[in-house]
Amino acid sequence: ITENLALPVGTTLDRFIMRKQEDFPFATGELSQLLRDIALAAKIVNRAINHAGLTDIGGAYGKQNVQGEDQQKLDVVANIRFIRALRNGGEVCAIISEEDEEVIQTGNHKGKYIVAIDPLDGSSNIDVNVSIGTIFSVYRRLSDQGCEGTLEDCLQRGVQQVAAGYIIYGSSTMLVYTTGCGVNGFTYETSLGEFFLSHPNITIPTTGSIYSINEGSYNQFQPAIKQYVELCRERNYSARYIGSLVADFHRNMLKGGIYMYPSTTKAPNGKLRLLYEANALAFIVEQAGGKASNGSERIMELYPTDLHQRCPLYIGSTEMVEEVERLLASSE
Ligand code: AHG
Ligand code: MN
Ligand code: MN
Ligand code: MN
Repeated sequence: ITENLALPVGTTLDRFIMRKQEDFPFATGELSQLLRDIALAAKIVNRAINHAGLTDIGGAYGKQNVQGEDQQKLDVVANIRFIRALRNGGEVCAIISEEDEEVIQTGNHKGKYIVAIDPLDGSSNIDVNVSIGTIFSVYRRLSDQGCEGTLEDCLQRGVQQVAAGYIIYGSSTMLVYTTGCGVNGFTYETSLGEFFLSHPNITIPTTGSIYSINEGSYNQFQPAIKQYVELCRERNYSARYIGSLVADFHRNMLKGGIYMYPSTTKAPNGKLRLLYEANALAFIVEQAGGKASNGSERIMELYPTDLHQRCPLYIGSTEMVEEVERLLASSE
């Protein structure tokens, strides 16, 4: 009996996606296929990550990406795997990736969707066996099918997302996603090779006592952000900062808290990228009942002008994000 209880029971990701599709009588199944393609690539990347210490896949790749960051081998491997899965799946006409300067045309001219992806989030944590992730956003193309995806297709506002999710390669691997009807989390069972529904209908507490910010940059923060950090210290909140956005976000969503990557004197727009980091997590946090802001505006309403543009990010429990917004507004 004990053995049986230890086995995962319940809904697989595939079955869950299929059931959701049945709720929409006119759905054609293409978005479902796209989500399954992402889950497949996630399994392959998960395997590569799990073997990282044993194979030659750790360490630097020797090149820089468009943001001037040193690419890690796993950044490149994950990028290849996700692009390949999306290309082979056939539903996506164009991809925006952190690791590629230009729009990637998949050659699927009939594909109805655009994907923006951070294939491997938390690069600096790869070689030290700390949680890392993948972040993705899905948009419907605006241009007619039958040709390549356009820049306009790729520069849509976050409010236009039809789905978004992340994979966290943590103490266990999870896939969390939304299609705009709440947020659901699936845990990967390695021996069966399946994601199982483990966290149905995730909601974020309206407030919390965790703050996540790189306090090493304190001297570069605006006065309002310094003030907020001071308040967190006075209230004896817990400081938690992994340095992998996905992992920091995931913890705060489950426990209640705020993640901040503010503008600094060195980086006035912060570090995180709107299209493949901020927007996806903003969609998810809002679906879970939380909030995502650049300090004064809702992340999902920002108009993108550049594929790799950055924005300050304050995301998590609603009351905490609103307090930061109030401090920033009153210090103007
Ligand atoms: P990526 O590895 O995809 O380039 O993202 C790195 C990001 C994010 O994951 C993390 O929250 C942040 O960089 C950490 O930056 P700092 O080291 O400046 O705090
Ligand atoms: Mn990077
Ligand atoms: Mn990232
Ligand atoms: Mn990345």
